[in-house]
Amino acid sequence: MDSESGLPIEPVYGPDTRAGADPAALGEPGEFPFTRGVYPTMYTSRPWTMRQYAGFGTAAESNRRYHQLIEAGTAGLSVAFDLPTQMGYDSDATMALGEVGKVGVAIDSIEDMRTLFDGIPLDQVSTSMTINAPAAVLLLLYQLVAEEQGIPAGKLTGTIQNDILKEYIARGTYIFPPKPSLRLVADSFRYCKEEIPRWNTISISGYHMAEAGATPVQEIAFTLANAKEYVRAAVESGLEVDAFAPRLSFFFVARTTLLEEIAKFRAARRIWAHIMAEEFGAKNPKSQMLRFHTQTAGVQLTAQQPEVNMVRVAIQALGAVMGGTQSLHTNSYDEAIALPTEKAARLALRTQQVIANESDLTRTVDPFAGSYAVESMTDDIEEATRALMDQVEEFGGAVNAIEKGFQKNEIERSAYRTALEIDHGERVVVGVNKFRTDGDEPYDPLRVDPSIGEAQAAKLARLRDERDGDEVRRRLDELRGLAEKEGAQAEEGDLSAGDANLLYPLREALRARATVGEVCDALRDVWGVYVPPDAY
Ligand code: 3HC
Repeated sequence: MDSESGLPIEPVYGPDTRAGADPAALGEPGEFPFTRGVYPTMYTSRPWTMRQYAGFGTAAESNRRYHQLIEAGTAGLSVAFDLPTQMGYDSDATMALGEVGKVGVAIDSIEDMRTLFDGIPLDQVSTSMTINAPAAVLLLLYQLVAEEQGIPAGKLTGTIQNDILKEYIARGTYIFPPKPSLRLVADSFRYCKEEIPRWNTISISGYHMAEAGATPVQEIAFTLANAKEYVRAAVESGLEVDAFAPRLSFFFVARTTLLEEIAKFRAARRIWAHIMAEEFGAKNPKSQMLRFHTQTAGVQLTAQQPEVNMVRVAIQALGAVMGGTQSLHTNSYDEAIALPTEKAARLALRTQQVIANESDLTRTVDPFAGSYAVESMTDDIEEATRALMDQVEEFGGAVNAIEKGFQKNEIERSAYRTALEIDHGERVVVGVNKFRTDGDEPYDPLRVDPSIGEAQAAKLARLRDERDGDEVRRRLDELRGLAEKEGAQAEEGDLSAGDANLLYPLREALRARATVGEVCDALRDVWGVYVPPDAY
């Protein structure tokens, strides 16, 4: 029987399967190469962050959900933005029609951001924002709202996803071409180093590639190849690797095949530690640690017998915890049908709370260390991942490979193979192609009020009437002017390039109440938009 990655799984592993394995490859928890976890004590001193992805409708509606999640015990916030926000359009843009507030919260300006975090002291929570092309814009709005709460930027903790490369490969919420996009990422690294030092500047994601069909090996190989491109871009912009690498973070999926997933996480940590130490010369152990968030596999949830999804999510969550995740989102059982209801979202969080408080998984670190099976699978996944990363390097790195459509096509091939296996019954999906039942009880999904688009448009009209239009135009012109100049070419480690850093004029435009759409349009005027390559 092969694994999800197409690697052999032996029916029985024993002492001879890893004869001659180097014990140093395992190492100690919290020590290079971090196979056993990034912290010496892991959950024995602090459980992973229970961080439920949430957001829909207006900022006020999402604010209510965040208060519910905080009351229910969630330790970190995770903001879902609607597609117009993710694509850098205002709610009243033609492109936004029908999408406002649908898959996440609509954020058009500092006023919406203020509402989104109303009553939430931003020095008391860590907030993840799933935002990529306009990541810098939403981060700056968050900083400006914190400033209004009297909270200095140095106290802010959280993450922006800011991972544009996987958007070209699998998720699609890109705006600008790769070069200016990578400049914006490097500028955000530099800005956070200077202004928001505890902020995780990027969440380099394999999740969406996995959801698009990537195997575990493809998921970590393409993610780590993307990560290498970000590190290269930052170093080429003049940043010294240990100046930004400690604040890189990652994001992976947890599939129901939990043994392979545990091995996948352990292999990913070990590969990244070696890459940072040996290829980029990182000296700070924090630069070599692969810290990651996990979300249980949405694509494995079924609309049939949706309550069975609670079992899948529990198994997937166990894999993430036994694999050493730092932060975890458990999907709601109804997510294959619609946005999660409050009850389903609470149950998803309770799943994590049962694992953390009623199981014994927080009492010891990396329980599978030394396991014949998991260590063998970790080695096998590491070997296959390195081979696939070498293939990406043969293109000249992830960006060149993306331009050739390589990653996208490899993932599509895997997705097609999985679909055929399900159709032919070789891969069982309980309730779908086996163990079906008829007449399931009716389910009442959560619906977003379609009139939200008009409400947002009215708010935008009021904002544009009330603000100082000349100040906004002046700030937008400043932003365009700087975007037309080449990116920061400061000497290594010299942060004087701050005057070439786009985030400063961007922040002042947003403070003057320029909208998300207006600042993104200003950059579109200069950089144009990304056009994907023809089919491979
Ligand atoms: N020993 C010592 N220190 C410890 C510790 C231990 N055992 N456990 C935790 N700590 C410390 C850490 O060092 C950290 O301190 P620092 O900030 O000063 O370094 C602090 O406690 C918090 O711990 P973590 O950083 O491990 O945990 P966080 O939850 O704060 O951060 C992360 C986790 C992965 C690094 C971060 O990037 C994160 O939260 N990512 C979340 C990303 C996310 O939520 N994404 C959602 C995507 S949804 C999406 O894409 C859309 C949809 O399509 C899926």
